[in-house]
Amino acid sequence: MKASLIVLSIATSTAVAQTTSWALFQGSSCDLDIPSFTAANANLPTSGQVAYTDGQLVMTLEPPADTSNVNNTGISVIGTTPLSLLYGTVEATIQQANIGGVVTYLTLINQVSRDEIDFEWIGNENTQVWTNFFYRGRRERNPVTLDEIWSEQITMNSDNTIASHDYKIEWTPIAITWSIDGTVVRVQNKSGTYEAAGTGDGLPYDHYHYPDTPLTVNVGIWNDQDTVWSNGPVNWADYPQGVTAKISSLKVSCYTGTIPTYTDPIIVPSGTAAYLTAAETIAPPTGNSSSSSGSSGSSGSSSSGSTSPTGSSTNITALPGKSGSKDFETLPLLAAIVGIAVFL
Ligand SMILES: *[C@@H]1O[C@H](CO)[C@@H](O)[C@H](O)[C@H]1NC(C)=O
Ligand SMILES: *[C@@H]1O[C@H](CO)[C@@H](O)[C@H](O)[C@H]1NC(C)=O
Ligand SMILES: *[C@@H]1O[C@H](CO)[C@@H](O)[C@H](O)[C@H]1NC(C)=O
Ligand SMILES: *[C@@H]1O[C@H](CO)[C@@H](O)[C@H](O)[C@H]1NC(C)=O
Repeated sequence: MKASLIVLSIATSTAVAQTTSWALFQGSSCDLDIPSFTAANANLPTSGQVAYTDGQLVMTLEPPADTSNVNNTGISVIGTTPLSLLYGTVEATIQQANIGGVVTYLTLINQVSRDEIDFEWIGNENTQVWTNFFYRGRRERNPVTLDEIWSEQITMNSDNTIASHDYKIEWTPIAITWSIDGTVVRVQNKSGTYEAAGTGDGLPYDHYHYPDTPLTVNVGIWNDQDTVWSNGPVNWADYPQGVTAKISSLKVSCYTGTIPTYTDPIIVPSGTAAYLTAAETIAPPTGNSSSSSGSSGSSGSSSSGSTSPTGSSTNITALPGKSGSKDFETLPLLAAIVGIAVFL
C-alpha cells in the first residue's frame, strides 16, 4: 500500500512538474523563525491531531479506529513547510515520543527526487537518535557487514522522551552537519560521497550520493506496525489516548552562498528521467537513457522489503553514553509523508 502511494504521488508529480519551478524559500522569506508555538502557524501547516500547549506544538498519534487488527497503524501527524529549501539550516527543539513502534522525526525531504536529510527517533530508544541522508531515495549497505551506509545512530546522555533538545541540520553544497544542543555530532562532506556509475547506490551515472534538490521541512510522528526496525508493533489497545511528541521551536535559514547548478537525473519509479538543468527548474526529460535500475522500479522503493539494514553507530563525545546499532528502515517515513500529501 505504501509503495503504491509513492508511485501515485511521483507519477502525478512527474506529469505536471516538467516545466514547473520549485517553490523555494528565497530572500527574506528564507528566514522562518517560530520561537514557540502559541497557535497554528501558517508557515507550518499540520495534519493529524495537534494542540498548542505551553508554547509547544503537541503532536498526538491517535490510535487506529480498529485496534483489534495489529496491522492498523496510528493516525500520523505531520507539519510541513509550504516552501522548499535549497541548502540552509533547520533547527528544532523536540521531545520525542516514548513508545516502541512510534517514530518522531525532523526531516528535510523532496517527494519527487526523494532526496532526504533527517533526524529520527525511535520511541523506546530514549537516549538515541538516528541521523540519515538519502540521495534519490537510495540506501546502500556495506556488502560485508550489511551495515547501512549513510545512517548513523547518535547516543546521548539524557532521556529524550522526557526532555527537549535542540536538533540542527546544516546543509550546504559542501557538507551536511548534524548538531545537538550546539554540539556537532556528525559531519558528512559531499566530497566523501562520490560514486562512479554502477557502484555504491547502483545509479547508472557518476555522481555524489548527496542531496542536492530543494527539500521541504517536516516534523511529525508516525507508526509502522509491519516492521521490526522501529521496535513495534504498538498494541494500540494500551494507548487509547494516543502517543505524543512535542516541538517547541522551529527555525529555518536559507543558505546564502552560491548554489551550484547540477545535472544529475532524478529517476522516478516509472523509469522516466527528469533532469535538473538549473537550480530551480525541472526540465522535461532529455532522453530515455536512465535505467530504472531495478530497485527503483514500480515497487516504489529501492530498499524497503523484507530486509532491515542496520546503520552504523557513533557516540557523542561531548555527551558520553552507550552506543549500539539497530535495525533501521526509513522509507516508510517517506511513504507516510507522501501518503498524507496525496490524500490531504
Ligand atoms: C497483518 O499483516 C500480515 C503481513 O501482511 C499478515 O500476514 C497478517 O495476516 C495480517 N494480520 C491481520 C490480522 O490482518
Ligand atoms: C570536510 O571538508 C572540510 C572542508 O573542506 C575539510 O576541512 C575536512 O577535513 C573534510 N572532512 C572530511 C572527513 O573529509
Ligand atoms: C531510447 O533511446 C535509444 C537510443 O537513443 C533509442 O534507440 C530508442 O528508440 C529510445 N527508446 C524510446 C522508447 O524512446
Ligand atoms: C561508544 O561508547 C561505548 C561505551 O562507552 C563503546 O563501547 C563503543 O565502542 C563506542 N562506540 C563508538 C562508535 O565509538
